[in-house]
Amino acid sequence: MRLILLGPPGAGKGTQAQRLVEEHKIPQLSTGDMLRAAVAAGTETGLRAKAIMDAGNLVSDDVVNAIVADRIDEDDCANGFILDGYPRTLPQADAVEAMLAERGTALDAVVELRVDDDAMVERVAGRYTCSNCGTGYHDTLNQPETEGTCDKCGSTEFKRRPDDNADAMRTRLQVYYKETSPLIGYYYAKDKLRVVDGMGSIDGVSEEIRGVLSSI
Ligand code: AP5
Repeated sequence: MRLILLGPPGAGKGTQAQRLVEEHKIPQLSTGDMLRAAVAAGTETGLRAKAIMDAGNLVSDDVVNAIVADRIDEDDCANGFILDGYPRTLPQADAVEAMLAERGTALDAVVELRVDDDAMVERVAGRYTCSNCGTGYHDTLNQPETEGTCDKCGSTEFKRRPDDNADAMRTRLQVYYKETSPLIGYYYAKDKLRVVDGMGSIDGVSEEIRGVLSSI
């Protein structure tokens, strides 16, 4: 299955992608995670991307398109993948379509997680992740079973993102509405769009996505 998770910052794309990885045994391709890995590794791409990401703006289409084109050629993507946070602009959407066509394949669905602006801000403000395995948590909405210990790998080290602050969040929302939300119409017109109410519980949203995917 080749799937896109579309939605604003804090919609739950990463959270739901991690669950879909387990259910469908296909990888999560998060351009945000890939760029953060490049920043941490100090690569040329990472050095250029850091300030852009910290401010909440978008890295250039050429850079992210190249990262995704390389990644989907890896062996673990042979049976499909979940694109999380990509595409984010109309040129990126055209690029992914061309990439898949060149490889003789196509997207199966685009799942849009629809959430209120207030919820996005609350979710992003309280988010943290396991430093070891990347599992996502929230200060109040999604805590580990044992406080301070990751449910998945047992690590006690966690981190927060530099762009999860009020200023960057304002920019990220503006960028979402200006650059990314036109993709809703783009995929609707191609009959690929499946809208899911992202305001439910994490389990409730997963259930709704399961229902949507069972019909494709
Ligand atoms: P990226 O890492 O993609 O960030 P984002 O799109 O802003 O999305 P988030 O990771 O903030 O949110 P999410 O929807 O994954 O929410 P999550 O599941 O964590 O991108 C970061 C930056 O990289 C960009 O700003 C840009 O600079 C650059 N970049 C990345 N891709 C790019 C591209 N294609 N082109 C150009 N630049 C690019 O959930 C949030 C919190 O809420 C968590 O704490 C979670 O536990 C909680 N939660 C989730 N679901 C629920 C629920 N249903 N109920 C209650 N709590 C919930």
